[in-house]
Amino acid sequence: MNSGQIRRSSFAEKDKEKMDKAKIEKIQKILTPSIPNSSKKCKLTLPDGEEIELPVLIGKAGPPMIDIRNLYSLSGYFTFDPGFTCTGSCVSEITFIDGEKGELLYRGYKIQDLANNCDFVDICYLLLYGALPSEKDKIKFDETMKNEMLVHEQLISFYKGFQSGAHPMAIMVGVVGALSAFFHNDVDVKDAIQREIAAIRIVAKIPMIAAIAYRTAMGLPIVYPKKGLSYTENFLYMMFADPMDPDYKVDKFLAEVLDKILILHADHEQNASTATVRIAGSSIANPFACIAAGIASLWGPAHGGANEAVLDMLDQIGSVDNISACVEKAKDKNSNFRLMGFGHRVYKNYDPRAEIMKDLCHDVFNYLNIEDNMYLNVGMALEKIALSDKYFIDRKLYPNVDYYSGIVLDAIGIPKSMFTVIFALARSIGWIVQWREMMSESSIKIGRPRQLYVGHTQREITKIEERVDSYEQLSDLEPKSKKGFNIHKP
Ligand code: ACO
Repeated sequence: MNSGQIRRSSFAEKDKEKMDKAKIEKIQKILTPSIPNSSKKCKLTLPDGEEIELPVLIGKAGPPMIDIRNLYSLSGYFTFDPGFTCTGSCVSEITFIDGEKGELLYRGYKIQDLANNCDFVDICYLLLYGALPSEKDKIKFDETMKNEMLVHEQLISFYKGFQSGAHPMAIMVGVVGALSAFFHNDVDVKDAIQREIAAIRIVAKIPMIAAIAYRTAMGLPIVYPKKGLSYTENFLYMMFADPMDPDYKVDKFLAEVLDKILILHADHEQNASTATVRIAGSSIANPFACIAAGIASLWGPAHGGANEAVLDMLDQIGSVDNISACVEKAKDKNSNFRLMGFGHRVYKNYDPRAEIMKDLCHDVFNYLNIEDNMYLNVGMALEKIALSDKYFIDRKLYPNVDYYSGIVLDAIGIPKSMFTVIFALARSIGWIVQWREMMSESSIKIGRPRQLYVGHTQREITKIEERVDSYEQLSDLEPKSKKGFNIHKP
């Protein structure tokens, strides 16, 4: 190589560097929301009569917010809001819910329009890049995703540590967390390119991770994905294919239904699991570990575990005749029972996803020629009774996305223990784009709420022989439910 060639190539490299930098900056600008400037202020009168002014932030939609970031330095007070019922923790451009109207938008598009016109891969692209893909974009993105579908063979060894019969969500928490061991030393979360790669990796790999969780729980051999199948077809294929039957075919109609279910669950702004992912990520933790934290949070019956709990509830009701007793129990403040799949922190109207899910239910039952189904019969009758009951009307309690999702998934042939896993699979895109949005901000505040301390004030230690017996060990007692864990069991 002569000196002219060296100069030309170093110019070419510099040009490429410049173009790459410009591309990163452009994407960063599109995908990083900024806190709006405030022109309005509100006044807060403190108990001593002093008045302070706080800025009011106005977003593109939704209620205005009082900016309390400087409240403590201005007043010496914190705010108290368990469950963050009135507290905004971030600015975001990804998803918007109007709970009063029952409206849900992903990047400005109505959920109904997206469910009718797009597939789940389009939605992943939309959430990741802020726009729907062109034909060319889609082909490229699809190929990128497919190239990332396989998991490291050694990750598969982790599944061997779980006993058959283990809940697939328990396996998901463990295995997705373990993914961080495969992508840690090389991951620089401050690098926009690496953040995008991490996002594509988790979304592409999660169908295989979820399908193996199921096959492990069932003691079945692993099936690998196929490039010729779509994202959702691949998941169904890896779940249900018989390795001894080369002719196994995924049902196209049911795959489309599942694809719509994934769209409905893809993101839902700052819900418990997404907030968990953001808080975990705020300490600059590994993104795959953050997603595992989100999966753990999703599992509970008050959140994504409700779809499984709805079917348990319908099983317990068993017949339309028992609905009134169930509704009375749900209203009884002395019972811990709630109507599962009913109510929502944000929706004070019909959850638009529940409406689409209900239609999907009828489509699937028609397609499969199911005329009489206890879950659907009892589910629909229970919904009707609850929606005309004063208790539910007064509290604006409507069916949420999980009310009908279990009924559809059961009809498709998905086992109950996989319902929340499917939710996690779909929500992995939402979690990771929310994480990426936060990580792309120029300064990241670690998530760290305050508390109202009501314990002892400082006290002196007494010598052990002077202390009175006070230890009441509850684990000496017999647990009410035999389902609970036994502390003496390894
Ligand atoms: N059945 C009976 N009563 C209910 C229900 C229900 N499903 N949901 C709420 N209520 C009542 C509460 O008892 C409370 O009554 P009160 O004012 O007399 O005390 C009132 O409605 C408000 O309820 P909160 O618990 O304050 O509402 P919050 O916003 O904190 O809870 C939640 C929302 C957790 C979803 C709740 O409605 C619930 O437990 N639903 C059942 C579980 C469920 O379906 N979860 C899935 C949610 S969607 C998702 O995560 C995908």
